[in-house]
Amino acid sequence: SLQGYESFMMKEIRESWGAVRDTLTGLLKENELLNKTIKAIERAKRVIIVAAGTSYNAGLLFTIRLQRAGFNAISVIASEHNNLRTNQDDTVLVISQSGETMDSLIALKKYKNNGSFIISLTNTLGNSISSYSDIALHTRAGPEIGVAATKTFTSQVGALMLLSSLLLNESVDYLKEAESVIANSFSKVIGYTKIIGSELSKKPSLYYLGKGLGVPLAMEGALKIKEIAYVHAEAYPAGESKHGPIALVENGFPVIFLNNGEFTDELYNNVMEMESRHAKTYVISAGSKISTNNNQNEIVLDVPDPRLSPLALAPPIQLIAYYAAKERGANPDRPRNLAKTVTVR
Ligand code: F6R
Repeated sequence: SLQGYESFMMKEIRESWGAVRDTLTGLLKENELLNKTIKAIERAKRVIIVAAGTSYNAGLLFTIRLQRAGFNAISVIASEHNNLRTNQDDTVLVISQSGETMDSLIALKKYKNNGSFIISLTNTLGNSISSYSDIALHTRAGPEIGVAATKTFTSQVGALMLLSSLLLNESVDYLKEAESVIANSFSKVIGYTKIIGSELSKKPSLYYLGKGLGVPLAMEGALKIKEIAYVHAEAYPAGESKHGPIALVENGFPVIFLNNGEFTDELYNNVMEMESRHAKTYVISAGSKISTNNNQNEIVLDVPDPRLSPLALAPPIQLIAYYAAKERGANPDRPRNLAKTVTVR
């Protein structure tokens, strides 16, 4: 039930930090399963990450972290599984909140038939995807009623940060602060995102830009606002935006920058580029600020460890979409044309 909340989406965003905490403690208790997972990824010649929609965006963070560490990791959009032929030397990670997404299940079966080792990360027990997997890992976000994935996304990100740190032989102590980082981000951005959401609800189109780990978050921000507020949005790597997309930018065109704290100088240049075209820029920074002046459109989230930045950026992108939907009178829980679980090809 709604338990006093105005929508499931808001309730579930508010549940996201508890969901991440439960996901991390749950996974850390499954020592044997985690060790098997690490071994299966370490011995693989290639690591293939397969998912659709929001789960794909979460997976991309994992792919980037592994690629940076020298792993041969690739993200594949589930419905585009035909573009890749796997073999017995590959380990495939299928990420699906529901565990029932037809595109992801078909990709899984095909790659399994090729002899690849299959790991899944799902949010429910006894789903089809986990039943076909060699190792079934789970997030512990609890049931998600809103059609838009929110707490399940944040939980996937938490789980994948844990896995990537284990693979990179990093201490996972920093993840103890995941819960408070997400909760603090939520409190800090709630007013700001209401204003942004309401401004964006009146615009026909916008860009979400980021760099590095900010790119999958930008993709997720653009997906969310399209999905529930019906505002057209595109995500690009910030540097790539000058190779074409910038042509659309004119007076007042909204551009949201997601700064995960890694590439502040480059992002600063991209913000300036957009501002010189009179774009309306918004900057959401995790950790370090982009602007040197007191840019009133930059909000800076506290992150005690830079690896927590993707988690800190989850509440603002979800809340922006939520408030844009509200402002337009759209029901964020039940976007048109969409089902919670896409069981068709
Ligand atoms: C967006 C959304 C969808 C799903 C996608 C995959 O908010 O919910 O993009 O992420 O349909 O669903 P799962 O994770 O259940 O495989």
